[in-house]
Amino acid sequence: MTAPFYITTPIYYVNARPHLGHAYTTVAADVARRFHSMHTDKTWFLTGTDEHGDKIVRAAQKEGCSPRAYVDNISKIFQDLWPELNISNDAFIRTTDPAHIAVVEKILQQIYDSGDIYFSEYEGLYCFGCERFYMERELVDGCCPDHQAPPETIKEANYFFKLGKYQDWLIQHIETHPDFIRPTRYKNEVLAFLREPLEDLCISRPKSRLKWGITLPFDPDYVTYVWFDALLNYISALGFPDRDLYQTYWPVAQHIVAKDILKPHGIYWPIMLKAAGLPLYQHLNVHGYWNVEENKMSKTVGNVIDPLEMKNIYGTDAFRFFLMRDMTFGLDSNFSETALIQRINADLANDLGNLFSRVISMAIKYFDGVIPEAAPDIEEEMDLGLKKNAETAIFAYNQAMESFAFHKGLIAVWEFITHMNKYVDITAPWVLAKSPSSKKQLEAVIRHLLEGLRIISGLIYPVMPDTAITMQKHLGMSGTDDFFKMNRLTVWKGLRSGDKLRKAISLFPRVEKTKPHADEAEASGSEKAPALAFKPEITLDDFLKVDLRVGTVISAQPVPKAKKLLQLEVDMGERRTIVSGIAEHYTPESLVGKQVILVANLKPAKLMGVLSKGMLIAATDETGVTVATLDRTVPPGTPLR
Ligand code: MSP
Repeated sequence: MTAPFYITTPIYYVNARPHLGHAYTTVAADVARRFHSMHTDKTWFLTGTDEHGDKIVRAAQKEGCSPRAYVDNISKIFQDLWPELNISNDAFIRTTDPAHIAVVEKILQQIYDSGDIYFSEYEGLYCFGCERFYMERELVDGCCPDHQAPPETIKEANYFFKLGKYQDWLIQHIETHPDFIRPTRYKNEVLAFLREPLEDLCISRPKSRLKWGITLPFDPDYVTYVWFDALLNYISALGFPDRDLYQTYWPVAQHIVAKDILKPHGIYWPIMLKAAGLPLYQHLNVHGYWNVEENKMSKTVGNVIDPLEMKNIYGTDAFRFFLMRDMTFGLDSNFSETALIQRINADLANDLGNLFSRVISMAIKYFDGVIPEAAPDIEEEMDLGLKKNAETAIFAYNQAMESFAFHKGLIAVWEFITHMNKYVDITAPWVLAKSPSSKKQLEAVIRHLLEGLRIISGLIYPVMPDTAITMQKHLGMSGTDDFFKMNRLTVWKGLRSGDKLRKAISLFPRVEKTKPHADEAEASGSEKAPALAFKPEITLDDFLKVDLRVGTVISAQPVPKAKKLLQLEVDMGERRTIVSGIAEHYTPESLVGKQVILVANLKPAKLMGVLSKGMLIAATDETGVTVATLDRTVPPGTPLR
């Protein structure tokens, strides 16, 4: 994986301010680029704004300003947002840039000269919102599927691009390059579309109707259709045709877009490139849509999520992590602040944050903050499979990240974090510290844990660059990018014995508040579920009859034929089988290593044929079930009172 890497986002329309959807795509591109920068020094990341067309003119009119002033203003808002989200784009293209305009003119002229653009009169159904003609069969109940309004019949003489001529070629290209468009569902969608005859594309708009666009080089009475103009940004930004950037990066180009713009990217764009005699991009990576509280995000509904607000409340890294972890790339996902808070508390504050601060605190307590050297034989004795776990995680992570399955990459990292937490429980350094004869074992254990943290810091770098740097600094490293190179990261002995650690910190404080918008709803007296009535008072003696214990989950598996049940093997000083109704909320793997709270003296009961000797404690709210855990790990069997 050492080839150069070039990634692009769509260039966003400047008729609206950036929202969660734009932020997701741009963070995903940033993550992909940072991941590839761990493997190669040659990466390039492009984003920008799409500034021509009817949509923009109408938005400018609404604001009472000229299109030029309007696009400058909104484009700046996009440009200013990206650093706030730690986006590391190398270039920002605007379709009003003179260099871009020159490339559009050049390609148009070339395709016109080769005979693939022709002039013709056309009458058709035109949607002004989409700025394109529709075919009857594309409409839903006679309306444009995006704007839910009937298109208007207009008759115009225009320039057309011969898409149809390249239909068979494109089908063949997609079939012989199976991951040209990925994930597969979107490749299939494009192929399904290509089963119908492809109509030629109208690529001009008469200036009598629209002036805000790039004038056709071969007819001054027309401007270029906004998509023909916009798609070319991916090469104009590289300095097509002469600059080195173009030579280096165009052959390895990858685009990220959402499913809404699959057709222009999966059909128009490859055909434009082919007609211009240029090589095609390598991959089109298509993701799904974020909905908000199960609804489509829209200004009219008033549920548009402002990424800057999320970043300000929850922090850049936590917000980026949530976006990458909660969307399965390719599928739609649902955004809610409750889910975001749950992710922060469970994955970041609990799993990663606690591990980090515990390990650093132990290293400070037992070795005065100096990284211990592990004696080779003892190092191996105390490994207990940890290195192997790291290798497995790194392998799965690389494969997933390479194919844009960011959520899977993070799952692999969190499996390793779970192993690390388990390793702490099993090796119990606080017990080793009690006996001077275990000093060497303690050195090896702490060294292993510090190395494991170093590897975790590298693997989270693409998604949470600031946290990665903080972790490395506290591990006594310089925190420069160099330490994130995959070949250095994966060497187990990446830390230097004798280097000094910095004091333990809390990487991610728990978010204690309930979601702010829910509080507002409460204040306005709406939408709040009625509080559950409290149970009658009991005495302390009554309470002490309940034997609450901490247990560490050793293994977990589904109970056959029971959709809701999981069978857990739990260490609570003794091994017990517990059956719990959490299968719809937790995967078995995610529970292994977790410390949970159990009622140990509940009369055993058989559930779907399995005898459960105790009950797991969990909270249920409107978003689901969350098991009760502790703030730090304690020995299994510890009573609660
Ligand atoms: N200007 C065109 C793109 C031209 S590219 C040559 C355009 N702009 S847009 O502002 O409408 O941006 C669309 C893109 O924004 C989507 O493809 C996606 O990347 C992102 N998203 C917008 N809403 C989204 C969601 N609700 N969810 C996820 N991403 C979404 O189309």
